[in-house]
Amino acid sequence: MYCFFSLWKPSQTTRKLQTFINIQVMTFFQQNKGRMSITNCNREGAHCAEMAMVCLNDFEEYAKGHLSKAVWDYYAAGADECCTRDDNLMAFKRIRLRPRILRDVSACDTRTTVQGTEISFPVGIAPTAFHCLAWHEGETATARATEAVNTCYIASTYSTCSVEEIAAAAPAGYRWFQLYVYRNRKVSEQIVHRVESLGYQALVLTVDVPYTGKRRDDIRNQFKLPPHLRVKNFDGVFEENAGLEEYGVPANTLDPSITWKEIYWLRSLTRLPIIIKGILTKEDAELAVEHGVQGIIVSNHGGRQLDGDPATIDALSEIVDTVQGRIEVYLDGGIRTGSDVLKALALGAKCVFIGRPAVWGLAYKGEDGVREVLQILNDEFRLCMALAGCRNVSEINRNLIQFSKL
Ligand SMILES: Cc1cc2nc3c(=O)[nH]c(=O)nc-3n(C[C@H](O)[C@H](O)[C@H](O)COP(=O)(O)O)c2cc1C
Repeated sequence: MYCFFSLWKPSQTTRKLQTFINIQVMTFFQQNKGRMSITNCNREGAHCAEMAMVCLNDFEEYAKGHLSKAVWDYYAAGADECCTRDDNLMAFKRIRLRPRILRDVSACDTRTTVQGTEISFPVGIAPTAFHCLAWHEGETATARATEAVNTCYIASTYSTCSVEEIAAAAPAGYRWFQLYVYRNRKVSEQIVHRVESLGYQALVLTVDVPYTGKRRDDIRNQFKLPPHLRVKNFDGVFEENAGLEEYGVPANTLDPSITWKEIYWLRSLTRLPIIIKGILTKEDAELAVEHGVQGIIVSNHGGRQLDGDPATIDALSEIVDTVQGRIEVYLDGGIRTGSDVLKALALGAKCVFIGRPAVWGLAYKGEDGVREVLQILNDEFRLCMALAGCRNVSEINRNLIQFSKL
């Protein structure tokens, strides 16, 4: 329509008519675009933009356009040259599938279990810090969204809401707590007791941060939590030795000297399942099993620690082969589509977790935004299952992977 009028050489009167029609046409498209898309709200809740949210990349684009540069850079950061961060995504794209056909996929069941608890589909939320930077309600919004969708939320130690506030926001939600070991063991010990009494159902010990990786943009931006936010789980805890600050807590509080014996120490503190997050080799997977943990998250911290780590999907198989079903193996890093979920499950992950996409959902529309992210992934996963000929998650196995192409 627009091209037609552009090529036509009109008279004075028809030129006016042309302008009128052009305006009408553009208005029509604007109005219908509004009807077909979702109205976005920014973190103050004000109407700000209209944009169809079709896939997780749309949420990324929205977050990039609406968060401040320093906050966006913090969430996006990888270590050093970001090779591992980027490879987490690229490695999924290299994998090809072997779909099966004519298998009555009229009803596909995406449900699964983790640590014996049923969840609606095999995607949970990985622990990420500082949700209040993305949305004013922070982790309480994330907790409500995961409760509504019935999946697992791993709350970060570095939450900007306390573990009590998170539990109160979504009392029926299925939650695990992510833990670090501090030089002052009492700090770790107290938080373990707190989350256990609040009904968190597993401890996720992150083991890939003896020191924080070098994230260049955070250094350039001199990233700091704004004064109105804090790591609420540690209110009052570090005050006496507060000094140089690193990511919301005093520098050098994490203990880089920890070894496998700390697993026994942790075991002595709690009856909760212990899951180790940050394993990338068969040797450490075997040690994890020998030390009696209940699960492993194959993770490179979203490429934020050692640049040069393998993509997690590339590390998964050797760990699954070593563990031989003795404990559950999960994966995070680079999950952006339903087919990524299918590939990870085909290679032996029981469940996967998303980090940055949940934060993009928060930045888009708080609780509703996180729900949309999860819903889109669920829909995509269900569709991929059907197209690959899988009627339930137990039918997803290695035969789905075209190994000759890897
Ligand atoms: C902004 C940000 C903050 C993170 N904070 C934590 C954290 O507090 N504890 C932790 O164990 N992992 C943390 N991670 C790592 C995630 O749990 C997860 O391993 C990673 O984000 C998965 O990759 P993805 O973002 O590509 O999904 C963080 C990751 C990001 C991007």
